[in-house]
Amino acid sequence: MDLVRLVVVALVLVPCVVFRHSADAENRHVFLDWEVSYAVRSPLGVAKKVIAINGDFPGPLLNLTTNDVAHVNVLNTLDEPFLLTWNGLQMRRNSWNDGVAGTNCPIRPGENWTYVFQVKDEVGSFFYRPSLGLHAAAGGHGPIRVNNRPVIDVPFPRPDGDLDVLVGDWYNMDVSEMRQHLDKGSDLPSPDGILIDGLGPYEASLTFKAGRTYRLRVSNVGTRTSLSFRIQGHKLLLVEAEGTYTAQKHYASLDVHPGQSLSVLVAADQAPKPYYTVVSSLFVTPELFGVGTVLYAGGPSAAGSAATGDAPLHDLSSHNSYNRSMEQAKTIRMNLTSGAARPNPQGSFHYASINVTRTVLLQNGVADIDGRRRCTVNGVTFANTGTPLKLADYFRVPGVFTVVSGRPERRNRPALGTTVIDASYKDFVQIVFHNRLPSLQTWHLDGYSFFVAGMGWGKWSPDTRSTYNLVDAVYRSTIQVYPASWTAVLVYLDNEGMWNLRSQDLEKKYLGQEVYLRVSQGNSEVSDPRDELPMPSNALLCGKATGLRSWYRLGPGPA
Ligand SMILES: *[C@@H]1O[C@H](CO)[C@@H](O)[C@H](O)[C@H]1NC(C)=O
Ligand SMILES: *[C@@H]1O[C@H](CO)[C@@H](O)[C@H](O)[C@H]1NC(C)=O
Ligand SMILES: *[C@@H]1O[C@H](CO)[C@@H](O)[C@H](O)[C@H]1NC(C)=O
Ligand SMILES: *[C@@H]1O[C@H](CO)[C@@H](O)[C@H](O)[C@H]1NC(C)=O
Ligand SMILES: *[C@@H]1O[C@H](CO)[C@@H](O)[C@H](O)[C@H]1NC(C)=O
Repeated sequence: MDLVRLVVVALVLVPCVVFRHSADAENRHVFLDWEVSYAVRSPLGVAKKVIAINGDFPGPLLNLTTNDVAHVNVLNTLDEPFLLTWNGLQMRRNSWNDGVAGTNCPIRPGENWTYVFQVKDEVGSFFYRPSLGLHAAAGGHGPIRVNNRPVIDVPFPRPDGDLDVLVGDWYNMDVSEMRQHLDKGSDLPSPDGILIDGLGPYEASLTFKAGRTYRLRVSNVGTRTSLSFRIQGHKLLLVEAEGTYTAQKHYASLDVHPGQSLSVLVAADQAPKPYYTVVSSLFVTPELFGVGTVLYAGGPSAAGSAATGDAPLHDLSSHNSYNRSMEQAKTIRMNLTSGAARPNPQGSFHYASINVTRTVLLQNGVADIDGRRRCTVNGVTFANTGTPLKLADYFRVPGVFTVVSGRPERRNRPALGTTVIDASYKDFVQIVFHNRLPSLQTWHLDGYSFFVAGMGWGKWSPDTRSTYNLVDAVYRSTIQVYPASWTAVLVYLDNEGMWNLRSQDLEKKYLGQEVYLRVSQGNSEVSDPRDELPMPSNALLCGKATGLRSWYRLGPGPA
């Protein structure tokens, strides 16, 4: 009996990967069945209800190659609506599958929905995570790799192994309790610690073979804390950031802000003994540490032995300076000669010679609205309605969202709103994130990467363009904005759809720091995303779109 049950459980849990070739013979189709469930884990010694995928926490690797079409059938066994989003994937012409509240109806408890999307030139390291209701603070995340097609070389010697390393701050308290804190207007307390691959202190372990080189794909999947990553005794050679090959440079430690991903090469060129991986919090007190080990195959196995000593937690004293962090950020640049990942990133490689057609200026703030502390963007706290904006736009359901200018507007007082910035297809837009608050912000744009042209202290003005890097700015999708500073990015809007522009700090996003960018060929009244993929036949309908069908559209047609 028990054996039978075991076999059945094993059959259910083994992630089912099927490769099928279909009509578009060039493209590989990857079929995955993911069951999302609650599980209990105690990485810091305190049991917490976490979100697992096929029983795993963190979830399985999504391993794709350029042109692959992924079909991910997500079964939601939670007692709450659920969605996953694909952080950093470009989802070309396909915001239908982006998996955020503004594009998709949630998968209801007990139901399943199949995401279908293709990956293209975003070759690199990313991750997926839940997008609703602070679920991501309970896990539900996992790594994504997009590999080059075998015929294309990577601009460094092929590593001997690829290792996914998910780091993040961790709260022992249940997500529902975290929500209660925020819903009654309190800040979250400090996190309880830092996890490496979902594991607590000294649990996560990497094994190196002497003389080999490994590619570590590091993502910060945590709630809100910036982290510094290092491996005792080893240098980190930065080679990739969110799908761009960077100018290769050695670092003793690298900052990874919430929602960011990067790849480093690590050479196993030290004496074969145990070393520590140290992940420390930045800009918070008390300082928190995540500690793992690196073992050399055939070498001693017990870290913490007298020979190894204690983990070097306090060796980088100047770490908590924002200036140091910004200086490091400015050294992360694109490798202009490699070009392998993206020979010509979406047609704008010589981005300096393209005229900016529009500047979007986003100022974040905090405000008390209806007795609750909220986060604002240009004075508005984003409020999701029960109708995804993408569906409202498609069916022309009026009254779901408000189109805003994308500039700070003079208004009497901060307010709730469901705001969309309208943008024209193929515009070349500058987005300036202006942070007036004393905490670090991280911003992410779905559907795109952007050139991180500039960062500076104080207030942005058009003159600051003279300080931009117009040569080899890194091209990525999540960027930090330091306290009392600005970050300017340039983006070529060649991907039609309704795209979420959000804080990667889960607390700030939960409190309303997000907005949508609608990219279409229509006019300001009626969007007309004519090159977009059609609405998927399995699209879920909800809210004011319940019962509508693709032939049924309200309101006027395109002009
Ligand atoms: C990921 O996919 C690539 C390309 O198909 C393959 O070579 C590699 O072994 C896969 N890695 C894992 C861990 O599945
Ligand atoms: C739900 O899963 C079944 C297979 O388990 C699949 O046939 C069906 O298409 C899925 N439903 C949706 C809406 O994706
Ligand atoms: C950071 O740099 C700015 C500008 O260079 C300077 O005004 C400020 O004093 C520096 N802050 C610290 C803490 O070093
Ligand atoms: C850029 O990539 C090329 C390979 O395409 C490599 O030879 C070169 O060292 C890289 N340059 C830097 C600065 O990393
Ligand atoms: C950019 O604008 C300038 C001045 O308006 C114009 O002369 C130039 O041709 C434009 N460049 C491109 C690439 O459109």
